Amino acid sequence: MDQEKSHTIELLSQDLYAEHDAILYYLTHAWTVAQHYGQEILEIAYDEMRHFKWLAHSIVTLGGHPDLHTPELTPIASIDEALQQDIDAEIRAIEQYEEHRDVIPDASIKALLERIITDERHHLHIFRELLARNTETAPKTANTENPEVSVIASRLQNIVTLEYQQMLGYLLQSFLDNHSQRIGLDMEERSIDEMRHMGWIGKLMGHFGLEPLFPAPQTLNQVREGTKNEEQLYHDLKEWAKQAMPAMIPTIDRIMEQEHYHTLV
Ligand SMILES: [Fe+2]
Ligand SMILES: [Fe+2]
Ligand SMILES: [Fe+2]
Repeated sequence: MDQEKSHTIELLSQDLYAEHDAILYYLTHAWTVAQHYGQEILEIAYDEMRHFKWLAHSIVTLGGHPDLHTPELTPIASIDEALQQDIDAEIRAIEQYEEHRDVIPDASIKALLERIITDERHHLHIFRELLARNTETAPKTANTENPEVSVIASRLQNIVTLEYQQMLGYLLQSFLDNHSQRIGLDMEERSIDEMRHMGWIGKLMGHFGLEPLFPAPQTLNQVREGTKNEEQLYHDLKEWAKQAMPAMIPTIDRIMEQEHYHTLV
């Protein structure tokens, strides 16, 4: 591979990592300390997911391998702190994309980065507005010393962990796939299923005052084995929810049906 190409791949990989970082922070903020602005922040996270996908496809097109390693997150205590951190992240993103746009010679990649910068400027504007009008105090956090709470916390966290890793596994396969026509869900659609499951459970954790974590997977090649564990986790969750949270049962049933479909094809 020529040097120019490998340098471009290196820069795009930095951008990919920064998007991954932003996605995990924004989701966490939307589900936990900043759940008051959950919908606005989720919309931004969805933009970052599209950026993530465009960058990964560009990396594959150039002959590279998208690196999906998980960023380390530090917990955030207050909504103001979260929004300030999001503002800083957008400013850094804009600077980094501008720098990369200026040094990458390929015109189509320059144009793509310019397209992404447009979104990031808008995000910065929204986060600044949210911070300016914020009068909310952060929701209470759960007492995880309480044995009952800690059982719920670890049950839900196990599911978020697995969904996150399944999502990354399918996503990587979708990036490497040559997007041929097929019947049913392609790898990207499956990844989106996992993402939504993660979101439903992550949001539930936020309502309990718990903070979801995103542990890095050991390998992204074990999506199928993960699906078997998942059936068991949801089965246990449903048994628990029958007493503790009957309102959750239809969502759990829906997830289980979607997961079952993943095992068929
Ligand atoms: Fe982005
Ligand atoms: Fe952004
Ligand atoms: Fe799943």
